[in-house]
Amino acid sequence: MKSAALFTIDHEKCSRDGLCAADCPAGIIAMGASGPEPAAGARRLCINCGHCAAVCPHGALTLRTMPLEQCPPLPDGWRLTPAQVETLLKGRRSVRSYRQEAVPRGVLAKVIDAARFAPTAGNAQAVHWTVIYDPDGVRRVAGAVIDWLREASQTPAMAWAQALVGAWENGRDPVCRSAPHLILAHAPEAQAQMAAADGAIALTFAELAAVSHRLGTCWAGFVMMAAARSAAASAALNLPAGHMLLGGMMIGYPKVEYRRIPLRDEPRVTWR
Ligand SMILES: Cc1cc2nc3c(=O)[nH]c(=O)nc-3n(C[C@H](O)[C@H](O)[C@H](O)COP(=O)(O)O)c2cc1C
Repeated sequence: MKSAALFTIDHEKCSRDGLCAADCPAGIIAMGASGPEPAAGARRLCINCGHCAAVCPHGALTLRTMPLEQCPPLPDGWRLTPAQVETLLKGRRSVRSYRQEAVPRGVLAKVIDAARFAPTAGNAQAVHWTVIYDPDGVRRVAGAVIDWLREASQTPAMAWAQALVGAWENGRDPVCRSAPHLILAHAPEAQAQMAAADGAIALTFAELAAVSHRLGTCWAGFVMMAAARSAAASAALNLPAGHMLLGGMMIGYPKVEYRRIPLRDEPRVTWR
C-alpha cells in the first residue's frame, strides 16, 4: 500500500511563492511546475518541524503529520514588547522558600506543555518529564541526595557539603528547599547526544512559563549532581529504565516576593 504523501498542497490557495521550499531546514521541498513537491529522499530527511506549514501565508500546505486545523494561526501583535520580555527575564528569580500548598496538576501540566515548544536539536523532542507531585516524595529525593552528600563530604574537595548535611539534620531542606513538587526532565540514554542542551532549554522554558502562573522555581543542582554520581540517589528518582536525568527543578507557590532586579556582571562579549 502506498503511504500518504509527506505533505499536500491546496493548489487553489498556493501562490507558488516558494516560501515553504526556502524555509525548509532539510531542503526537501522542490518547486515544481504546479507548486511545491517533495524532493528525493524527503520522507527520510524530513525532521517534522512544521516550518513549511508555519511559514505559508495562504494555509496552502498541510504536512501529513500536522493537520492544519491543529496548528493555530498566530494572532497579530503576538510578540511582547522588548521591555516586557526584558522585565520577565530580569525579574525571574530562583525561589528557595515555598508555601506548603499544592499546585493544581493542571497548572503544572500547562508549564510542561509550554516547554515542549522549546527548540530541540534536529527537532528530536526526546525530553520526557517526571513530576514528583507528592511532597513526601520530594523529601525522599532530598534525603537520598543528603545521604550521598554525607558520604561525599568526607573528601576534602567536598567538605563544603557538611554544612548542607548539618542543615538537614537541623530540620531544614537545603536540597529541595521544602518545595512541594519537583519536575525532572530526562531522556533515553540512546538519544543523549544533544539531549543535555535540549533538557536545559526545555527546563528554562518551563521556568519562564512558571512565572506567568505566579509560580516559583529553582534548579535542583544538588539533585542533578547526586543523580550523576550516586546509584542510590539516581534510583530515588525512579526514572524509566535507560533514561538519564537532564535536569531538575523545584516548583511551587513562592513565599517570597522580589521587588528589585539585582545586578549581574556585564556581558563579556568579543565583537569581531
Ligand atoms: C544548573 C543550576 C543548578 C542550580 N542548583 C541550585 C541548587 O541546587 N540549589 C539552589 O538553591 N539554587 C540552585 N541554582 C540557582 C542559582 O544559585 C541561581 O540561579 C543563581 O544564584 C542566580 O540567582 P537567580 O536565579 O535568582 O538569578 C541552580 C541554578 C542552575 C542554573
